[in-house]
Amino acid sequence: MSCRVVVLISGSGSNLQALIEQLDSPAEIVGVIANRPQAYGLQRATVAGIANECLDHQGFSSREAFDQALAERIDSYQPDLVVLAGFMRILTPELVRRYHGRMLNIHPSLLPKYKGLHTHQRALDAGDAEHGATIHFVTEELDGGPLVVQGRVKVIADDSAETLAARVQLIEHRLYPLAVSWFAQGRLRLASQGAELDGELIASGGLRMEDYPQTSEA
Ligand code: GAR
Repeated sequence: MSCRVVVLISGSGSNLQALIEQLDSPAEIVGVIANRPQAYGLQRATVAGIANECLDHQGFSSREAFDQALAERIDSYQPDLVVLAGFMRILTPELVRRYHGRMLNIHPSLLPKYKGLHTHQRALDAGDAEHGATIHFVTEELDGGPLVVQGRVKVIADDSAETLAARVQLIEHRLYPLAVSWFAQGRLRLASQGAELDGELIASGGLRMEDYPQTSEA
């Protein structure tokens, strides 16, 4: 049986592109929703033949009203999993609860470090030797749900926020397909204690991507 995936985006959609290229059965991307009409990821979806639409948050008077409409659009695809791929919105608790255990996010830092915005600059300012990205289950705490897997890069002497972000994105493009595949295969789930892979509780710091080499990588 396939795992129906809906991807939510706000911008370029390079993570969406990585999912399009690397996911295979049982994962199936059935829809892409953007909250900004100019989100380039919508074009990526069109090129890939995936149903896509924009629900512009600017047309709504409140966060609650937008999230209610968003839930209706998401549900129209009957997804098993909702993937936040650069979806730059704070979600209402109602929306998060609705998809409890079936919503993943990617965040550009080694959580629990640097929740929120400007993560690359903050890692540089702190003088960190390494930085990276994290996949986690979404809960009501912003960027605070149980961690699944992290990918790391070394910070190098001349890094700017832009060069560091570019290297982190390369890692992101391997990280998300890995985690979504696990979920689609029924290996990854959110249990009452935290995230589990193959029935084993994932430690609070998450798994390390380098321990799971991917053979189907582009
Ligand atoms: C990604 O780097 C992702 O980690 C980040 O937005 C970017 C989207 O890029 N997400 C967040 O900052 C969430 N708080 P993309 O549109 O090219 O996939």
